Amino acid sequence: MKHLLVLIITNSLVFGELQFPPNFKFGVATSAYQVEGAWNLSGKGENIWDYAVHRTPNVIQDGTNGDIACDTYHHTEGDVQLLKQLGVNFYRISLSWSRILPTGFKNKINPDGIRYYNELLDALTANGIEPMVSLFHWDLPQPLQDLGGWTNPLMADYFLEYVRIAYENFGDRVKYWITFNEPSVLCAGSYEGGLLALAPFLKSRGVGLYLCGHTLLIAHAKAYHLYDKEFRKSQKGKIGISLQGIWYEPSSSSKENVQAANQRLQMEFGWFAHPIFSKKGDYPPIMKERISFMSKQENFSQSRLPEFTPAEISYIRGTSDYFGFNHYTSAYAVPANISGGPSQDSDFGSSLSQDPLWEAGASWWIRSVPWGFGNILKWIKNEYGNPEVIITENGFSDKGGLQDCRRINYHYKYLEALLNAIHNEGCNISGYTAWSFMDNFEWTGGYSKKFGLIRVDFVSPERTRTLKMSAYAYRNIIETKKIDWSFTPSGFEKCVF
Ligand SMILES: *[C@@H]1O[C@H](CO)[C@@H](O)[C@H](O)[C@H]1NC(C)=O
Ligand SMILES: *[C@@H]1O[C@H](CO)[C@@H](O)[C@H](O)[C@H]1NC(C)=O
Ligand SMILES: *[C@@H]1O[C@H](CO)[C@@H](O)[C@H](O)[C@H]1NC(C)=O
Ligand SMILES: *[C@@H]1O[C@H](CO)[C@@H](O)[C@H](O)[C@H]1NC(C)=O
Repeated sequence: MKHLLVLIITNSLVFGELQFPPNFKFGVATSAYQVEGAWNLSGKGENIWDYAVHRTPNVIQDGTNGDIACDTYHHTEGDVQLLKQLGVNFYRISLSWSRILPTGFKNKINPDGIRYYNELLDALTANGIEPMVSLFHWDLPQPLQDLGGWTNPLMADYFLEYVRIAYENFGDRVKYWITFNEPSVLCAGSYEGGLLALAPFLKSRGVGLYLCGHTLLIAHAKAYHLYDKEFRKSQKGKIGISLQGIWYEPSSSSKENVQAANQRLQMEFGWFAHPIFSKKGDYPPIMKERISFMSKQENFSQSRLPEFTPAEISYIRGTSDYFGFNHYTSAYAVPANISGGPSQDSDFGSSLSQDPLWEAGASWWIRSVPWGFGNILKWIKNEYGNPEVIITENGFSDKGGLQDCRRINYHYKYLEALLNAIHNEGCNISGYTAWSFMDNFEWTGGYSKKFGLIRVDFVSPERTRTLKMSAYAYRNIIETKKIDWSFTPSGFEKCVF
């Protein structure tokens, strides 16, 4: 009886009564290569995506590219008005390194890159929208890739030169900096190949990704310390990192299955979270042991995972003012020996499955699992000492349409899980970012996978924008601070959830 009562109370809280805290912030996100276009205008240099889509267009499912994309480069004023219409508190963008430094190095600063971002930041600030700015969202200048990209340890210093220029030129208006977006996805996508491949589309399986991650962690820490020492006092912003985490649920409560799910979570999410957010720092012990063991089996002379010195471990630990968290989906993990190694997949030691009953998005990897979001939020709280978490991405892809009830359903359910985590689990979550502000170039998915709250007509030269039903639903949440499942904006039909 007591249990039943608790259940009823929890349900009534979950369904409708919980409110977002008064200072909770809402935003929407994009990234430079996915929306800007203007790939070769006014002095911009070539980045690894420009290079890949022009030389090997078959890597993109629909053969498209980001040459024009949403053309946000030419829509600053109009887009800021759309953001105002949504009522968001902040807008998350990324800077294109090649637009600012065409060669990647600071020897040549492109005045048009500085002008473009100044105008965008000014327009946002003038309209009361806080800019949240990622320094790096996957579009490395090609000349730096030619020198080995992130597997080259010197990249950390090249990154720092670029970052200093960004702080000096834009930092007065930026209250939230993000050093890197989803380093675990970037490094695996860059070097492992397969379904999740990303530019520069290299294959150095089981090796390249860990070198990439090692350099990124050092580069991240350098960018943090530079801000902390020289800019924080006058610019008064926060600086962090956005980590992607899929929740891995054990497929049964057996010891082996729990161990397999935990190992995978630590080796993917903990890969970057543990060095920065844990008390001890460094890579997760289970990750170090597993890769060392696998490397030995494979007759390598040393572990494929590089080691940090004690000085580096303490230099990296604690270098984030908040926990930026990107989350989309969950999966079941079962122990499995994956052949064909060395690879990240065989290092993981598990295989994955998703329940076909979970609502599927247009991207093959995405299914709606709101309880998985709740589980990983609790896990972050317990594993890393309840840091302040900002959800820096969450969203759902479909194939198009303005009456996007499936997207609304996804956001409502994930936001309910978030409210439950705040009010009933004591998680410290201070903001939420919907991915995405508008439909855009979804990497190898091209333009066929649509995540936007706003439709973009990619056929019209004007790239006409139209608010979808989800845009109005999101605005209503921001206005009322709660979720109203029956909300139906005029001009749309009631969703049947
Ligand atoms: C820029 O790229 C477009 C293709 O997207 C091409 O048609 C145009 O000639 C290029 N412009 C310059 C200045 O190179
Ligand atoms: C490693 O070397 C040993 C001894 O030469 C050999 O038996 C084994 O098959 C090798 N392992 C792999 C994965 O090649
Ligand atoms: C994986 O291989 C090891 C060593 O051969 C074996 O002990 C283990 O049972 C295997 N695991 C699975 C899930 O097949
Ligand atoms: C959440 O984190 C912020 C920033 O660290 C802190 O100021 C605040 O007290 C925390 N709130 C809770 C409820 O723990």
